[in-house]
Amino acid sequence: MKLDVHKIQNKNGLSIEVLNLGGIIRSIKTPDRKGVFEDVVLGFQDPKHYLEEHPYFGAIVGRFANRIAHGTFTLEGKEYSLAQNNGTNQLHGGLLGFDKVFWEVKPLENENGIQLSYTSKDGEEGYPGNLSVTVDYVLTDDNTLKVKYQAQTDKTTVINLTQHSYFNLSGDFSKQILDHELLLNADQYLPLDNTQIPKGNYQSVVDTPFDFSTLKTIGRDIEAKNEQLKIGNGYDHCWVINNPNNEIVKAAEVYHPESGRTMDVYTDQPGMQLYTANFLDNTLPSKTGGTYGPRTGFCVETQYFPNAPNEPSFPTTILKPGETFTSETWFQFSVK
Ligand code: BGC
Repeated sequence: MKLDVHKIQNKNGLSIEVLNLGGIIRSIKTPDRKGVFEDVVLGFQDPKHYLEEHPYFGAIVGRFANRIAHGTFTLEGKEYSLAQNNGTNQLHGGLLGFDKVFWEVKPLENENGIQLSYTSKDGEEGYPGNLSVTVDYVLTDDNTLKVKYQAQTDKTTVINLTQHSYFNLSGDFSKQILDHELLLNADQYLPLDNTQIPKGNYQSVVDTPFDFSTLKTIGRDIEAKNEQLKIGNGYDHCWVINNPNNEIVKAAEVYHPESGRTMDVYTDQPGMQLYTANFLDNTLPSKTGGTYGPRTGFCVETQYFPNAPNEPSFPTTILKPGETFTSETWFQFSVK
């Protein structure tokens, strides 16, 4: 299939560009407090780079976002083996996940946006069931990008979808995101073992570097002496969003003081993986010249919990025939 780009714009001039490859959001242009529009997501100028190895820039991640321990799980008594593409674990759906496949794209009829569709075949990347997935990208006139996921299967399976955009609200990708102020609506997070699999317990954020219950710069505690930060080489953890009723709630707020740009994230998902691009190593070309260095972006990946298929106490990620998986995440842009 041919690589193509789809543009969505709202009446205020905000725009996003989406590739049919991986449903990748390759740009989001939003104004700063002076009205200057800049691109606030990492990616490539030349779309061809997206066909090569990259760390899920802007992509839809599936069938299962984040890690599954040892690339294996048991469902209805049957053991499934998946590719181990991250040490002995599976990361982000395997070797050819949803980030690397071509999606059908069509305009939405009743909203300003597009619908992407993909059918993952029974057994693809080792997962059971033909899984039909749609992802809608909608851009509203209140400057909100809504991402709406739906999926159905013909065999019992597991599913966990997310959007893997790397944001830098400064619009300057040579700058680190450590000066961005972040608030997370979460009293707990999931501590990791040293292969980055959640240990299974919920840990209070109080008195730890993981406390973002009030606005704090991402950089304030990122270098603190802390076993968990060492494992992630910075923040690379799932927070448990305070959302007992699975409603759409505000999960995060990010503010970049210099530009005034603010992004509020709403979701109905139980978790949010904050990843501070700890592994970017100046090998990939930046859209604005130069290369992407460590911590020049942050991801706020709304999702179910990593390794949920092997952790019975986590909210279930099982999808059965006849059911419809639905989920929504909104990114709302404004200035302060
Ligand atoms: C994971 C990181 C990983 C990154 C890029 C994030 O979602 O949590 O561990 O390095 O994606 O692959």
